[in-house]
Formats: sequence, C-alpha cells, structure tokens
Amino acid sequence: MVPQHVAMIMDGNGRWAKKRFLPRVAGHARGVKRVRDIVEFCTARNIHYLTLFAFSTENWKRPPDEVEHLMGLFVSALEGEVARLHANGVRLRVIGDLAPFSPRLQQLIATAEARTAGNDRLVLTVAANYGGQWDIKQAFSRWVNEHVGAGGVPSAVGPSDIDLAPYLSMAYAPNPDFVIRTGGEQRISNFLLWQSTYSELFFTDTLWPDFSPAEMAKALDWYAQRERRFGQTSQQLQAAAG
Ligand code: IPE
Ligand code: IPE
Ligand code: MG
Repeated sequence: MVPQHVAMIMDGNGRWAKKRFLPRVAGHARGVKRVRDIVEFCTARNIHYLTLFAFSTENWKRPPDEVEHLMGLFVSALEGEVARLHANGVRLRVIGDLAPFSPRLQQLIATAEARTAGNDRLVLTVAANYGGQWDIKQAFSRWVNEHVGAGGVPSAVGPSDIDLAPYLSMAYAPNPDFVIRTGGEQRISNFLLWQSTYSELFFTDTLWPDFSPAEMAKALDWYAQRERRFGQTSQQLQAAAG
C-alpha cells in the first residue's frame, strides 16, 4: 500500500556540511534541492499529502545568523520554486505560527498558497515555526473561543466534549500514515504530536541532503510490509479483509 500522507523530519543538513568542511548553511541550501527531488518523487508515486518539517518552534534557539539564513532560504525557495510546483499540480500550504516571520515572508506564503489553491495532485505542507505542542494549544484556544460564550466556561466539560481535531492546523489532511526522519536521531522533536499517534515511524542515518528518491522508494517498500492494527488484533484485521 502506498501511504496517503507522508510526513518528514528533514534532519542532518548541518552534519552534511560539517563532513565537507562547509558552513552549516551550505547544508541547508543542499537540503532545499533535496526537497525538490522528493516532491517530484511523491507526485510520481501518487502520494497525496507530503508534509515537511522545515523549522521548529525550538529552532529559534539557534545562532541568529543561522536563523536568518534559514529565513532567507525560505524566501528564495518560495520565489524560485512556486512556479514549478504550480505547473506540477502541487498545492502548497504552510502550517505553524507565522506571526514572527517578516512581512515579506508572510506575504510570499499567502501568495503561494493562493496561487496553488486550485491544485490537487499533491498537497505539500511545509511546517514552519511549527511545534506539535503549539498546534494542540492553538487548537484548544480556538475551541474555547468558539464554545465558551459570554457566560463563561460551561459547568461540566469532559474530554469527550472537546473535539480538537477540526481545530488542528492540518485538519484538511488525514493523519500521516508514515513519518520518516533522516539524520540518525530517533525522536519526534515536537513534530506532529497529535496527528502521528498511529503513524509508522522510519528512521534512517542518511543525512537529509543525501536522502535520495531511491532511498525513499526503499522506505516505502518497508512501509508496505507493516500491519497497521490501530489497537485491534491481526485476526480481526484478517477477518475484516475477508
Ligand atoms: C535540519 O538539519 C534542518 C533544520 C532543523 C532547520 P539540522 O540543521 O538540524 O542538521 P544537523 O542535525 O545539525 O546535522
Ligand atoms: C528537527 O530537527 C526539526 C526540523 C527538522 C525542522 P532538529 O535538528 O531541530 O531536532 P533536534 O534538536 O536534534 O531534536
Ligand atoms: Mg538537527
């Protein structure tokens, strides 16, 4: 089975550069090129949603010049890549708290989203200033604002009264079936916490700038062998499949 939604933690750009005695930012520039290859590969493989973790809420803690360079790369990627995405039927969406971004970057994001809004071959979501905890908090805050009127908090609100799913920032997509992390670490680093509850997880030592479509094809083969039980037993699944 091909996953409908693949989410990726693109890690290892800095180490890729370090190995080559290059500045970390050279690794980020290489990483952008990889994004292009992987997007094209996913389109060819009929994956419908691809979500890429580009900048976490914790990445602001990096040295200011690296942060600034990453913002500049984001701007140039939007300026340089959107026409190609559009021509390939890709819809671009950006999730995360965009408020701290420069007005220019926010404008480029809005323009790119609007320009590609009619495309449906692949929905490419870029998570920028995104954190899974931020997402849950912003969802809860929106829920409260819609459900709590002037009378204050209703007297009894139980867990089952709170349906956060429609308020999460990726409410437009099914939960990721498959989460891939490059760069050797085996952690989630505050990515899609709520949405990856039942995702298959794949970790590879390959650094993001080296992660090729061929390697992604192998990862998809691995995914195809998983039995996704969602809490049920194998026997139940086999019986349901007839
Ligand atoms: C991932 O690569 C890109 C971002 C987090 C922006 P890193 O920059 O984290 O690369 P390493 O982990 O230092 O190698
Ligand atoms: C995760 O990578 C975030 C992105 C890929 C955007 P990090 O390099 O920031 O993760 P940690 O700090 O090693 O967990
Ligand atoms: Mg890293």
